[in-house]
Amino acid sequence: MELGNNERRMMKVMLNDSSRKWSLEDLLDATGWSDQVHIAGAGKSLYEAGLVEISEKNISKISLGAAGIDANQKGLLEARIWSWMQDIEEEERTMQNLFDSGFERHEAGPGVGLLKNLGVSIVKGVFVFDNYDSITNEINSRIKFISRLADNPTEKSLLDEGLIDHFKTRKNLISIEESTIRTWSLTREGSKFDVDMLSEIEQIGQITPELLQGDSWKEAEFKPFDVNAPTPTPAGGRPHPMQALIGRIRSVFLEMGFSEIEGDYVQSAGWNMDALYIPQSHPARTMQDTFYLSEPSKVEVEQKYLNMWTRVHEYGDDTGSKGWGVKFDTNEAQKALLRTHTTVNTVRHIANNPNEPCRVFGIGRVFRQETIDRTHLPEFHQIEGIIHEPDANLPMLISTLKTFYAKMGYPDVRVRPAYFPYTEPSVEVEVYWRGEWLELGGSGIFRPEVTEPLGTEWPVCAWGMGLERLAMLVLGLDDIRELYQPDLERLQDMPIL
Ligand code: PHE
Repeated sequence: MELGNNERRMMKVMLNDSSRKWSLEDLLDATGWSDQVHIAGAGKSLYEAGLVEISEKNISKISLGAAGIDANQKGLLEARIWSWMQDIEEEERTMQNLFDSGFERHEAGPGVGLLKNLGVSIVKGVFVFDNYDSITNEINSRIKFISRLADNPTEKSLLDEGLIDHFKTRKNLISIEESTIRTWSLTREGSKFDVDMLSEIEQIGQITPELLQGDSWKEAEFKPFDVNAPTPTPAGGRPHPMQALIGRIRSVFLEMGFSEIEGDYVQSAGWNMDALYIPQSHPARTMQDTFYLSEPSKVEVEQKYLNMWTRVHEYGDDTGSKGWGVKFDTNEAQKALLRTHTTVNTVRHIANNPNEPCRVFGIGRVFRQETIDRTHLPEFHQIEGIIHEPDANLPMLISTLKTFYAKMGYPDVRVRPAYFPYTEPSVEVEVYWRGEWLELGGSGIFRPEVTEPLGTEWPVCAWGMGLERLAMLVLGLDDIRELYQPDLERLQDMPIL
């Protein structure tokens, strides 16, 4: 086998000390290479040629994780609670006193759990123990363990196994990094190799137009090209998966003959709710659910609409309805809020174009006071739409939504009866995914109490779906928060839509 230049250089270096075991650092130093890829590559070829032997040793290095660094500075949680216990009277050792002396709930709970595992128990609300020495010893050895790692990441075999196992069960206290250490040495055949054969040769690594114009290539030696060599995958830019999904939804609706509409985040309660015949006492209107604004605290609404909503809400006006039968508050209707659904956009679109049949959609951000968890965010997006025309009807609504989801790749859609204050009938839309029916949104035909004050007598098919819900399906996520975390590597690996 003909040796390449890298192999020649590495052999030459190794022959200077033919019985030595070379570490990576030694070889980088002696060859003058800065990239270890050369050593790995040349070493492998030399190994395949029977000239070099490679030995590998796996090691695990243990260092502190983020919580470990914190514990080393502030003190280990169980140690802090333990010393708090020693500093107060026996009968004062209660959970309440623990909170009062500054331990927060998220610390006190797990901290007491750790001490319970060491033998502390709670009798009539008071912490008690009868093995002071053994608890203190165990805690001290944990402290020592952590502070040793703070100074230096340490090879696993040098540390106490029991303590490693213990800290492994605690979140982010330690981190374990596995790595492989390699050494290279000459085989018997390698050490007999003739150094004079190792002068580096001139090879052509790249064919250029200039080269091909002359004749020199005819005599030249070409560097072999390994098409199987591993290479890094280039990370090009890509749209954020949510942007890509919005783009796809947009083109599906455009393809189905819909036009796009938009609206402002800041709206009056009137357009967001009263226009939709949501009673002013509805629980979703309270501050627990809706973000009301202090600046501006008021968004003016045309008197004409305030009058109409007053009549409709109080006694139904001439819509055929009896209304809610309670006094309507026009100040309430002019409170400023962050829109809680995009239905406000479609309703305003009808109010502005009452005599024009339309099919419109919008994709927009909405705001609700939600506690963040796996399936909830206080800011999310809805996919909203209406069909407003003389013959609009329920089957038309259902087949439109089915067509939309089928085009998005979810052909199994079903609807179930539902309730919204502004539609009758009302239906909930569900799609079948991985053996389950998932609820994706609400829809229905707007009630006359909604449409008549807007100035139309035609029926309106309306719907509002959760975009993030759909995104979780499309991207195969089970935690909604993953959509908005700036983890570039994860985002890079999400499917291209
Ligand atoms: N606005 C409703 C929601 O936020 C969805 C909906 C829109 C229901 C239109 C019926 C008609 O969940």
